[in-house]
Amino acid sequence: METLETIRKRCSLKSSISPQEIGAEVIHAVLDAARYAASSRNHQPWRFVVVQGQSAVQALVDAAVSGTNAVIREAPVVIAVCARPQDDSISNGREYYLFDTGMAVANLLLAATDFGLVTHPMAGFDEEALKRHLNIPEDVRVIMITPLAYPAAGSYDEAARERLNQRTRKAFEEVVFFNRWGETQPASEAIQA
Ligand SMILES: Cc1cc2nc3c(=O)[nH]c(=O)nc-3n(C[C@H](O)[C@H](O)[C@H](O)COP(=O)(O)O)c2cc1C
Repeated sequence: METLETIRKRCSLKSSISPQEIGAEVIHAVLDAARYAASSRNHQPWRFVVVQGQSAVQALVDAAVSGTNAVIREAPVVIAVCARPQDDSISNGREYYLFDTGMAVANLLLAATDFGLVTHPMAGFDEEALKRHLNIPEDVRVIMITPLAYPAAGSYDEAARERLNQRTRKAFEEVVFFNRWGETQPASEAIQA
């Protein structure tokens, strides 16, 4: 897939998870893509705990994931994305460990989509229970988790169709300003250029 096509196709698909195993080289490639993200002063604060295998994933879900997010118990892989605040820059109060780790997660999600794999970023889990379960040190934050799986039935495109059809986004004009805050029209010189 082309990059822009992958960006448009990526969506959160916890409702379509197959227990089918994923090859080690594919898992490696997805995590390797995450590792190449940009980061403030190249601090690379992200850490990934890859939970693999049906019994390990189910034990994790039993320990720390409940409600509708518990559907990820079917996944062959769940990745816990972690970082320590002190491993990255703080610039005028802005803590970049979260931002930089988000950049890595974006790469991870896009790489997975490129392989036709389902992902679904989740903040809805019991962080303390998850840390205890995975032996994650006290000063490390677990920022999100995502399942990594093949779609439950058919291709990625089939699995994603309904979600993509229903997807909403704020209007371009609501989130993009030109030259000054609130200006929704590009300057006329910029249009001519
Ligand atoms: C940091 C983060 C946390 C999220 N937490 C949850 C969650 O706990 N449960 C859930 O169902 N979806 C969760 N989502 C998925 C969002 O609801 C989803 O990304 C958003 O609705 C946009 O849909 P899309 O990812 O399909 O484009 C989370 C997404 C992000 C980025």
